[in-house]
Amino acid sequence: MSFIRPAAVIVLAAGEGTRMKSATPKVLHDICGRSLLGHVVAACRELTPEELVVVVGHGREQVTAHLAQADPGARAAVQHEQRGTAHAVRAGLGALNGADGADGADGADGVAGTVLVTCGDIPMQTPETLRALAEAHQAQGNAVTVLTMELPDATGYGRVLRGPDGSVTEIVEHRDASGAQLAVREVNSGVFAFDGRLLAEALGRVGTDNSQGEEYLPDVLRILRDEGHRVGAERAADHRELVGINNRVQLAQARRMLNDRLLERAMLAGATIVDPATTWIDAQVTFEPDALVHPGTQLLGATHLAAGAEVGPGCRLTDTVVGAGAVVSNTVAESAEIGAEAHVGPFAYLRPGTVLGRAAKAGTFVEMKNSSIGEGTKVPHLSYVGDATIGDHTNIGAASVFVNYDGEAKHHTTIGSYCKTGSDNMFVAPVTVGDGSYTAAGSVITKDVPPGSLAVARGQQRNIEGWVARKRPGTAAAQAADAALAATEHKEEPK
Ligand code: UD1
Ligand code: CA
Repeated sequence: MSFIRPAAVIVLAAGEGTRMKSATPKVLHDICGRSLLGHVVAACRELTPEELVVVVGHGREQVTAHLAQADPGARAAVQHEQRGTAHAVRAGLGALNGADGADGADGADGVAGTVLVTCGDIPMQTPETLRALAEAHQAQGNAVTVLTMELPDATGYGRVLRGPDGSVTEIVEHRDASGAQLAVREVNSGVFAFDGRLLAEALGRVGTDNSQGEEYLPDVLRILRDEGHRVGAERAADHRELVGINNRVQLAQARRMLNDRLLERAMLAGATIVDPATTWIDAQVTFEPDALVHPGTQLLGATHLAAGAEVGPGCRLTDTVVGAGAVVSNTVAESAEIGAEAHVGPFAYLRPGTVLGRAAKAGTFVEMKNSSIGEGTKVPHLSYVGDATIGDHTNIGAASVFVNYDGEAKHHTTIGSYCKTGSDNMFVAPVTVGDGSYTAAGSVITKDVPPGSLAVARGQQRNIEGWVARKRPGTAAAQAADAALAATEHKEEPK
């Protein structure tokens, strides 16, 4: 039997997450460049369900707004009071039935086909695992299939109880379990596949006779089994991907695990990661073969490393494209485009809108912003380039500043190709330096420079001889000057 896409995936995310001790709803905490909910929704989306519904409650304005960004095709269903996981699924089904999912809508009819239910706080779950669960569920013709896992420490989880023939009889919550039941290591992961119609029917029969007085979703298993339906359980191969996040210790552990998974994928795709322990990457980072990452580097957002690009040590690149064979070290860059064979750093800061051409250079203690630097053009030392366009094969002298701000507005500087500007220049924008021009060291360029000119814009030097002897007599400076002058006279004597 081939895989039939789920009619719906329902993600439960209405809980408060008190143990995070945070003003931010739990599912909005970030690991590897995405919220916990964002990771879950992205994994669910891979199964191409007809409907993707997220049940929201605590912090619902924030969560709903975030969801609209993360997955505009997903729907939010509101569960106003958190009366348990079964109650939450009913709110989710209500949204599917065309209602707004508010508590009043009971989702009584459900939908035909497979309905997957998962939790918004299990960020490591993979599309492969969800798909395998749905496939097994469909192939076995089950009314419900629960994804289970074996845990070394099952504290807090619902225990999966099996009959003498090995089939699942029911799930008992930790708080409601007897001593013998607590010894069971196989637990409910919180992920289920259901027949949509049977789920809706069974939800109507879930009670609240338990230690928390809540409607428990796992009770649906016992209800369906008692009615003679097939109840299945699939054991996950790797329990680590189904770990739920409840506090910030688990958040950090999940971040580490997800980072390892992303790095592994990068290495298998041909990138060299010198030190996985100190390299952090976001879920959307991409690599071409032979990209090389040195220790202590963070690659964030939609950063891309082209073939043979070398990044690090000590870089933090956000939404930055690094061209083939470019070398970037000890650099912070955000929304920048670094051309092929370009050199950046050590100790450069590329701010949004920086575009470096092929084989260009942004050297040591160089800051750039909203500027386009042509092919082979170099800004090697101690400079600020803001709001500028620089042509090809130009060299900007050390310690130059593009003076772009008059206190009210920003202005643009244009420098042509094949220019050589002197050290310690100030380019007071708006100003243009024509192709093939030179500027003298120490110039403050306030007027346009025609192509092929030498611009000199600094005070004439004046030497006032004998000033030290007159004004600072007897000082070490005066003595040194005397000696130097005497030596010069002495040399001149034989003539
Ligand atoms: C639940 C399961 C337990 C399983 C464990 C796996 C129940 C009764 N227990 O326990 O068998 O081993 O998950 O992690 O289902 N939620 C809502 N609305 C509610 C209540 C919960 O949306 O009214 C959401 C939460 O935000 C969370 C998920 O459902 O994403 C699970 O709820 P939680 O309270 O964490 O259940 P557990 O006690 O962990
Ligand atoms: Ca939980």
